[in-house]
Amino acid sequence: MGEVSTVHEFDRITVDHLRERGGLNWSTYPDALGSFVAEMDYGCAPEIIEALHAGVDGVRFGYLPSVLVAEMSQECAGWLAESYGWKVAASDVRPVGDVIAGFEIAVEHFSTPGSAVVVPTPAYKHFLDVPLRSGRKVVEVPMVLVEDRWEFDLDGLDEAFSAGAGLLVLCSPYNPLGRVFTRAELLAVSEVVESHGVRVFADEIHCPLVLPGAATHIPYATVSTSSSQHTITGLSASKAWNLAGLKCAQMVLTNQADRETWAGLGLAAEIGTSNLGLIANTAAFRSGGTWLREVLGYLDGNRSRLGDLLADRLPEVLYRPPEGTYLAWLDVTSLGLGDRPGSFFAEHAGVVFTEGADCGDAGRGCLRLNLATPRPILDEIVNRMASALARR
Ligand SMILES: Cc1ncc(COP(=O)(O)O)c(C=O)c1O
Repeated sequence: MGEVSTVHEFDRITVDHLRERGGLNWSTYPDALGSFVAEMDYGCAPEIIEALHAGVDGVRFGYLPSVLVAEMSQECAGWLAESYGWKVAASDVRPVGDVIAGFEIAVEHFSTPGSAVVVPTPAYKHFLDVPLRSGRKVVEVPMVLVEDRWEFDLDGLDEAFSAGAGLLVLCSPYNPLGRVFTRAELLAVSEVVESHGVRVFADEIHCPLVLPGAATHIPYATVSTSSSQHTITGLSASKAWNLAGLKCAQMVLTNQADRETWAGLGLAAEIGTSNLGLIANTAAFRSGGTWLREVLGYLDGNRSRLGDLLADRLPEVLYRPPEGTYLAWLDVTSLGLGDRPGSFFAEHAGVVFTEGADCGDAGRGCLRLNLATPRPILDEIVNRMASALARR
């Protein structure tokens, strides 16, 4: 785990500055510290800002220009090959407005009509509501703790597919539990999926955010021939380079049937992508590495720092430092705050977390904290939690 003693430029980012920038964590509750949206407080890579300026100066504001799509697809494919040895044709990297738009498309067009969607929980909360909007049922399959590590419940998945579910949402790296899965784990999932002939939406939006010491990210679609056949993958530079408002993500197609289905959807699937989003994603994949490495080092320090702070001020809280993502999952059940402890901290500590219960039933009594904040703010968050509990 990282060294945390030196002052970093991110340490100097203030709450006032963040409120001025106006991100959701800092504008939704003007009097509280926001830790509920998965966005980073660290700004953006200079290479991306520069590319965006050039895009603005070039007045690249027309309908989805194919040249920008082609550049993004090319850079993304190159980055996937270089980072993970995943060789995909640039033409198989398709643009969408965001990963959740891609998930909606996966539900509606890449799984058996009407079939239920299996969501391992606790989950990113929109995995739970998007299928409902498409008239699908959601089957929650809680992750299981095996020797202090969160793993997929293979029997639970098997049962859900036996009951007719048609699509698994596989979030890798895993929001909110911070797991970076091993090849053996992914392979085991793919065998269950294959045995039922169902589909997987692999949400790999957090893949650049593997923290030091963890194994590298392994794209699920690469673990076996069958996984490439049953998977459609969504990703984006938006989480790792802080670009969520620019509306650009990628769907990676890995089999002929999906290419044909995608082509059949026509422009409707891709039209929500923005030009500046394409430009920013292209720049991130092409030249965002230096900035990202700096961020990962800082996050490494933050995950250690959180462990130290909790051990010191709130030793009852259960926390396993994430291997990837910038999210920390806190099991605070022993504090006796009930199923929705977030409301206590919002009211009495002035800190707003994601309620674990909003991540599925398995999340009751837990909180999700955003580690991607300046270290002094992280300190303040834990101090406020401890003080509020002491005043109870
Ligand atoms: C796992 C996961 N998928 C999707 C999203 C949302 O991505 P987008 O804004 O591209 O829809 C998030 C946002 O935090 C996420 O954590």
